[in-house]
Amino acid sequence: MSGYGEGKGVSYNSYLKVKELKELQLCLSDPAHHDEPLFIIIHQTYELWFKLILHELDSIVKILEDTDLDDAKIWQANFYLKRVVAIQKHLVNQIHILETMAPKEFLGFRNHLNPASGFQSSQFREIEFLGGMKDTNMLKYFSHEHAAVVDLQKRFDSHSLHDLFFKVITWAGFKPVMDKETDSEEEKKNKLEQRVQEIKKLYDQAAKYPHIYDLAELLLDFDEGILLWRKHHATVVERIIGFKQGTGGSEGVAYLKSTWTKKCFPELWQVRTYLEI
Ligand code: HEM
Repeated sequence: MSGYGEGKGVSYNSYLKVKELKELQLCLSDPAHHDEPLFIIIHQTYELWFKLILHELDSIVKILEDTDLDDAKIWQANFYLKRVVAIQKHLVNQIHILETMAPKEFLGFRNHLNPASGFQSSQFREIEFLGGMKDTNMLKYFSHEHAAVVDLQKRFDSHSLHDLFFKVITWAGFKPVMDKETDSEEEKKNKLEQRVQEIKKLYDQAAKYPHIYDLAELLLDFDEGILLWRKHHATVVERIIGFKQGTGGSEGVAYLKSTWTKKCFPELWQVRTYLEI
């Protein structure tokens, strides 16, 4: 009679590749600094969660791209979006584990990381691009990684959640006017204002469009999730390196704070200003 784990089938460790996983934390400091495993593991776990977020977002995009849209499909997209938002809440909390690392401890191995930087997290940029924050300037950080440029370019050329949200409300009968590449700044500003007013009509009749209203609020949660991560990350960075320059060559905290204005769905933020009882 065989006991637990003695059979030939799959085991916990073999299924999850725990042995291989444990071999992936290679410290650059020598002898390895006590806090470098923390630094590596926290980044690796972020990248794993980013991978899952992209997996969920890809499904959402596929659902919303469907030309034969219906309420059940929007409900399914919302179902996956709720998972993304739950992961983002975890990601905001997780950054605080880094606060247990004293600034002097970090300096003990920081010089080994130069010039690697969070700037080069291609999955983070993919999430931004997928949301709608598309910026080709970001591609320059990946000149050393052809595969990352290919992935990002693919995201750049594909529908974003921003595009698809407006596709959904158009399907429901609203008439948002989208930007064209050739539009002037003034035209873009006017069109954005027009879209805000279309969303206001949706918010004024939320009960008539429950799944689309939920979609809008979940997309706002997603946008807020990115923003809250940015704020907590910048705060932890200030606590650890103060106003030192980043290893990626930016001004550090001053640069990070400048990203707090970035939004995937400016219309969903702005509509609040116009709502009345
Ligand atoms: C000791 C901890 C950390 C420090 C001191 C730090 C510092 C910085 C700095 C200074 C930048 C600006 C770019 C540069 O010049 O390098 C940056 C960007 C970034 N970091 Fe961190 N970081 C830390 C932890 C993390 C963690 C745990 C993640 C998890 C993914 C992360 C992800 C990113 C990302 C994605 C960016 C790009 C942000 C953007 O351009 O909007 N960082 N980091």
